[in-house]
Amino acid sequence: MTPYIRGAALVFVFITLLQSVNGDSRSFAHLRAKASDKTQSRSVIELLRRVLGNRSRDFIVSINRTLSNDSLDVCELRSAKNNKIVAVGSTGVAVATGIYNYLKYFCNCHVSWSGDQLNLPRPLPPLTGVLRISSPHR
Ligand SMILES: *[C@@H]1O[C@H](CO)[C@@H](O)[C@H](O)[C@H]1NC(C)=O
Ligand SMILES: *[C@@H]1O[C@H](CO)[C@@H](O)[C@H](O)[C@H]1NC(C)=O
Ligand SMILES: *[C@@H]1O[C@H](CO)[C@@H](O)[C@H](O)[C@H]1NC(C)=O
Repeated sequence: MTPYIRGAALVFVFITLLQSVNGDSRSFAHLRAKASDKTQSRSVIELLRRVLGNRSRDFIVSINRTLSNDSLDVCELRSAKNNKIVAVGSTGVAVATGIYNYLKYFCNCHVSWSGDQLNLPRPLPPLTGVLRISSPHR
């Protein structure tokens, strides 16, 4: 088996790690639109801490439901001061998906089975303008 997980599999890793945060699947539910905005963003932050270690501080996340329409989950990413990346999504899942896409396409990241943290470039690659990522609403 290849030592690296790529593509959609990384989303699965995100979700699996997320479930392990509280030892059950409640956390994933906390990423979904039914949870409060605060609960959703807290769940994303916990997830990032799991996956990225202290580099999770390079991301500022928040939830804004009005970004979405009925059919699409939307996440917008932009660069902010101090080489941070701001991610605003319509749900926690949208934010996690948006950051996943940023890691994959802008940071060339992969997760290894050895359990190493992602090897993130320092500083994070800046974004010019707004990166908008839509995914089908579930
Ligand atoms: C972040 O974690 C790494 C190891 O995981 C450590 O070497 C580094 O000093 C930490 N940085 C901060 C600011 O805590
Ligand atoms: C949420 O997004 C909408 C549309 O982009 C924007 O008009 C609004 O100011 C945002 N709300 C917050 C609290 O950022
Ligand atoms: C709303 O959804 C449609 C697809 O059903 C999409 O074409 C459109 O861009 C979306 N609008 C916004 C503001 O995201």
